[in-house]
Amino acid sequence: MTVRADDARFTGSISELYESELVPLLFAPYAEDVVDRLSANGLTRVLEVAAGTGVVTRALASALPASVTIVATDLNQTMLDTAAAAGTSRPVEWRRADAMDLPFEDDSFDYVVLSQTLQAMKNSEIIMREMLRVGREGIVTFPNFGYWRNRLHIAAGYMPVSENLPYQWFDTPNVQLCTIADFERFCRERRIRIVERKVLTKGATVKLLPNLLGALAIFHFGNGAE
Ligand SMILES: C[S@@+](CC[C@H](N)C(=O)[O-])C[C@H]1O[C@@H](n2cnc3c(N)ncnc32)[C@H](O)[C@@H]1O
Repeated sequence: MTVRADDARFTGSISELYESELVPLLFAPYAEDVVDRLSANGLTRVLEVAAGTGVVTRALASALPASVTIVATDLNQTMLDTAAAAGTSRPVEWRRADAMDLPFEDDSFDYVVLSQTLQAMKNSEIIMREMLRVGREGIVTFPNFGYWRNRLHIAAGYMPVSENLPYQWFDTPNVQLCTIADFERFCRERRIRIVERKVLTKGATVKLLPNLLGALAIFHFGNGAE
């Protein structure tokens, strides 16, 4: 398995900086919301792909009974090492794996979780297909490019730089940004069933005009549109 140039950004001390600076600001506040989507009833196996330094993995480990196997993967071994060193409240299987070619059998997990990474992948379609191949249902979170503050930046002629999108255009891992409307159309066209959608801005749930007023989206989905 090769580490591509854009994944190399997370090596060495970068993974520690990521864990100490970005995770508390960007990802930790939403980890619990992701875990809340999972119903513990009848769960046996949960997979997290692109787990990074393990912020969601730690929340999964705290919330799910020890009888549920948690497998957490990332392409970058240094990120996994940082995650494993941070520790979890119960055992987790850490494994290096490419989200675009998951080394698991069909239907081998109840849920597959992908947090804050869809926008940094080169081919979201392959990843969504892989998630629904190895798992019964999936959960993704991503920053909503349609959020009004982002639209204001664009209207002013600039790429957005904000709490949820903290990178400058010339130095960003985010190569596939999308809006909530884009993601819903993507699912509709591929007959991916949306089980539930939660939209948040600064931790508060947004129900009114979510594609305009929501900064972050959490989608729970499964195979087969109604
Ligand atoms: C923005 S971080 C998000 C990490 C974590 N999910 C979180 O919420 O903090 C993106 C992660 O995706 C990983 N990654 C990038 N490309 C990948 C791929 N093709 N397969 C698996 N992981 C990948 C990177 O190594 C990095 O850890």
